[in-house]
Amino acid sequence: MGPTIKLSSGYEMPQVGFGLWKVDSATAADTVYNAIKTGYRLFDGACDYGNEKQCGEGISRAIAEGLVTRSELFITSKLWPVFSDSDKVEPACRRSLSDWGLEYFDLYLIHFPGALKYVDPAVRYPPGWFHDGQSAIVRSQTPLHVTWGAMEGLVGKGLARSIGVSNFQAQLVYDLLRYATVPPAALQIEHHPYLVQKELLALAKAEGIAVTAYSSFGPASFLEFKFKHAEAMVPLMQDELIVGIAAKHGKKPSQVLLRWATQRGLAVIPKTSRVGVMAENLDVTGFDLEQDEIDQITAKDAGIRFNQPSNYFSTDKMWIFG
Ligand SMILES: NC(=O)c1ccc[n+]([C@@H]2O[C@H](COP(=O)([O-])OP(=O)(O)OC[C@H]3O[C@@H](n4cnc5c(N)ncnc54)[C@H](OP(=O)(O)O)[C@@H]3O)[C@@H](O)[C@H]2O)c1
Repeated sequence: MGPTIKLSSGYEMPQVGFGLWKVDSATAADTVYNAIKTGYRLFDGACDYGNEKQCGEGISRAIAEGLVTRSELFITSKLWPVFSDSDKVEPACRRSLSDWGLEYFDLYLIHFPGALKYVDPAVRYPPGWFHDGQSAIVRSQTPLHVTWGAMEGLVGKGLARSIGVSNFQAQLVYDLLRYATVPPAALQIEHHPYLVQKELLALAKAEGIAVTAYSSFGPASFLEFKFKHAEAMVPLMQDELIVGIAAKHGKKPSQVLLRWATQRGLAVIPKTSRVGVMAENLDVTGFDLEQDEIDQITAKDAGIRFNQPSNYFSTDKMWIFG
């Protein structure tokens, strides 16, 4: 196994994992199986990705063939906002576990802050953002401390070994730390040279919360949505600075982007559908950038966030990062 990060829960989390968002359910089983063959041990899933069952099939196949054991894997899933009410958290976690064919998650995260009104899985699963499946955003009145209490219950029952949050900013992390009896072990956030979030990283470090960077390649992941602000940016893998640093180290620009994060202590979870690219995305801890190179990449920070929920809506209806 490659390098790991020790979580406040006491468990070790692989520093490089595999992202499962937008992995087509038709190919997800093979993708996960091939990623395990390549050497990945951490898989970052979520109810919302709509492929947990197929990802679980890939894992079962790899285990059945003796490629890996359950205890060597680190599986993450995430609680969707419609399951934030106290009595909905455990059933949502159990549904995801059942889809994966697992008895426990290594890490279970609150996917987004901002509780939404419950949608029965029998009506629609995954439920998505809209209460009516069309356009209605309907909030739940459940406050975060109630949801977090239920998340802690998952640890008590052995359904999740570690719990954490995603897409939270400093204010909510401070709130959570006031009452958590199980502190958040991990924080998963959008992080790339166009969105560094330096202060949030400093807070996480000070509080012993491991940070996982998502969308490490910046706009690349959002071009398929035709986001104007993603199309308008220089692709990070073609950026002059990144390309120059990559050439100097005999690495790919993608590897420099991932090493910039891992060398600063973050975990990364790149996604690729291409088997040929899996190995290079995993090989991002075995070389070192110069401090000056790290600083120059960090200085590209432009505060540009691509994964705003409102970007996926036809009109503005929710402003999580407002
Ligand atoms: N918590 C959250 O709200 C949240 C939000 C977003 C993402 N995530 C997690 O983070 C993971 C990673 O983020 P992401 O999927 O948004 O984006 P990403 O890993 O930054 O980028 C994926 C995109 O880059 C391409 N790509 C991958 N490796 C490449 C390489 N070596 N060279 C060139 N292009 C490459 C992929 O295309 P190909 O597939 O064609 O290679 C895909 O278009 C997700 O899968 C998910 O697990 C979490």
